[in-house]
Amino acid sequence: MAESLKGKVTLISGAASGIGRACAVRFANEGAIVIVADFNEAGGNETVNLIKQSNGQSEFIRVDVSDSASNAAMFQTVMERYGGLDVLMNNAGIAVGGGTGIVDTPEESFDRIVAVDLRGVFLGIKYGVPLLLAKGGGRIINTASVAGLVGYPGNCAYAAAKAGVISLTKTAALEYAKSNIVVNCICPAYVDTPILNSTRDKLDDEEIKKLLKRRVPVGRVGTPDEIAQTAFYLATGPTFLTGSAIVIDGGITAM
Ligand code: NAI
Repeated sequence: MAESLKGKVTLISGAASGIGRACAVRFANEGAIVIVADFNEAGGNETVNLIKQSNGQSEFIRVDVSDSASNAAMFQTVMERYGGLDVLMNNAGIAVGGGTGIVDTPEESFDRIVAVDLRGVFLGIKYGVPLLLAKGGGRIINTASVAGLVGYPGNCAYAAAKAGVISLTKTAALEYAKSNIVVNCICPAYVDTPILNSTRDKLDDEEIKKLLKRRVPVGRVGTPDEIAQTAFYLATGPTFLTGSAIVIDGGITAM
């Protein structure tokens, strides 16, 4: 039988917007206590308010996932308030796109994307695992991308960082397989959130829609709620499912 999220302490990074917000709302609707972790305070508080309006339990904690001290402080606060964590979703991410090839990619931009998208997940696992162990185990869900499975011309840092997230997921799954911590990642593509537009900022909305319709086999972009549904499955589904990269991309990588 699937587990329930009722009363489960859950931390979701990047929950001020997009996929993270949809997961926060879904998990709270399923009875989880949701810690919204983000560096966007206004957006984070909006997510908390959305949850509270439906009588859910939630609080906002400000974090910069790329920063070690910020992670340490956040997880210490969670430990003091809740005595541990049941579910950790390392989801915060950035994408600076626009078709710059490897040769022309500024080193600072490469470093920043890797710092948030890869180091951020590493730090989340590093500082979060002790809290999961304190509860006798739990679930980690990392948000990777199909960009970590295939090449992504013009976005080398993002692709490399997301491939690293898939690798961290498998390594963490093996390291904690005997400690009752289940670790998986989700590989979405073309989900309708602000990040999607930041990678295609030279096109207007109509052009983007036409382009995606051509490019995605199912003929539409994905919704944050569809990713939340997948994350909910990973948060409550079979514990034999660990170390996997779950692709949800409208069929793109099937081509
Ligand atoms: P989004 O831009 O709506 O949300 C990203 C969130 O991460 C924002 O709330 C932002 O404030 C937060 N964030 C960024 N840097 C942070 C930092 N250093 N510390 C703390 N919080 C930080 O974008 P979306 O689409 O919801 O992205 C969520 C995840 O999904 C990201 O990891 C992204 O790479 C991944 N993804 C998204 C896809 C899409 O098509 N939207 C496709 C594949 C992966």
